[in-house]
Amino acid sequence: MIDLRSDTLTQPSRAMREAALDAALGDDMYGEDPTVTALERRTAELLGHEAGLFVASGTLSNLLGVFTLANRGEEVLCDEQAHIVRAESGSHAGLHGITTRTWSSAGSGIADTATIEALISPRGGLLTGTAAVEIENTHNFGGGTIQPYENLLAIHNMAKRHHVGLHLDGARLWNAHVVTGIPLADYGKLFDTVSVCYSKGLGAPVGSVLVSNQDAIAKARVQRRSLGAAWRQAGVLAAMALYALEHNIARLADDHIGAAEIARRVRDVNPAVITVPPQSNIVVMQTGSRTATELLDAAKARGVALSAVGPTTVRAVANLNVTFEECVTAGKVLAELFATLG
Ligand SMILES: Cc1ncc(COP(=O)(O)O)c(C=O)c1O
Repeated sequence: MIDLRSDTLTQPSRAMREAALDAALGDDMYGEDPTVTALERRTAELLGHEAGLFVASGTLSNLLGVFTLANRGEEVLCDEQAHIVRAESGSHAGLHGITTRTWSSAGSGIADTATIEALISPRGGLLTGTAAVEIENTHNFGGGTIQPYENLLAIHNMAKRHHVGLHLDGARLWNAHVVTGIPLADYGKLFDTVSVCYSKGLGAPVGSVLVSNQDAIAKARVQRRSLGAAWRQAGVLAAMALYALEHNIARLADDHIGAAEIARRVRDVNPAVITVPPQSNIVVMQTGSRTATELLDAAKARGVALSAVGPTTVRAVANLNVTFEECVTAGKVLAELFATLG
């Protein structure tokens, strides 16, 4: 099976596992795990922030990032296809009393300053006050799209004017950085809080880091414990994330080539299937008259695993455990399936 369901499915390599074996460990609740501390420092430094917090998942990292920017009874604005609103089980509202209100970007996930600004409700008025704006880069359900830097800059300036916080869900910021060549710190400095994931394209089995200023990270650290998510000798995991950081960023370009190859073959036979051409490692495809489930079953029967992201939308994600040749094969299989779609 050529498994293109997600880039989270990757298995850690032997070398990555060996990095975990040799890691220096301590009790992170006491602030004594040197490998965790090294990962937090390194990530913060890369993103141009003061401090970092290593957590178990991107969901937790987003949850804590937004928590540091908004109070109970306030709202965060985001795209209607954002991971925080579609795939985090209502946790921002359920656990922290922070509601989400969304804008539409017609499927691409590309954020537009004027659209966002029009939604802002001042704090202290009759309406629920807007405390923060959340941006996803790259945008997962949008098809791995990359937010244009000038948009991010304009959103940053607009948020400052309105005294509204800015959180970046950078689960795949690494992919944007590899495509654009824009330094991670140039992205990072536009946001008050940034979440990055080590368990997506970078291939580590577990872990995300939230970065921000010292005070926000101290607040997030206490809240992480309240949620029962503080940990002890987590250096075994941090070591694999550090390995991913050192070895697996530049090679994301291979995933982007693989995704482009799949998309090229499908578009050649049926251009309507891909409305947003892939900019990174994710190919989103419309299944037309067939349901996503029918398409998934047909692809699976031919040795290609995809995932559904809507009733008539499927996704292929090129990743570390899939070779270029396998992307070519998958592209051929999908082209055959999509050639006949109405
Ligand atoms: C854009 C984005 N943000 C956050 C997450 C959440 O990460 P996790 O699955 O580690 O909670 C994901 C997961 O795929 C994601 O795609």
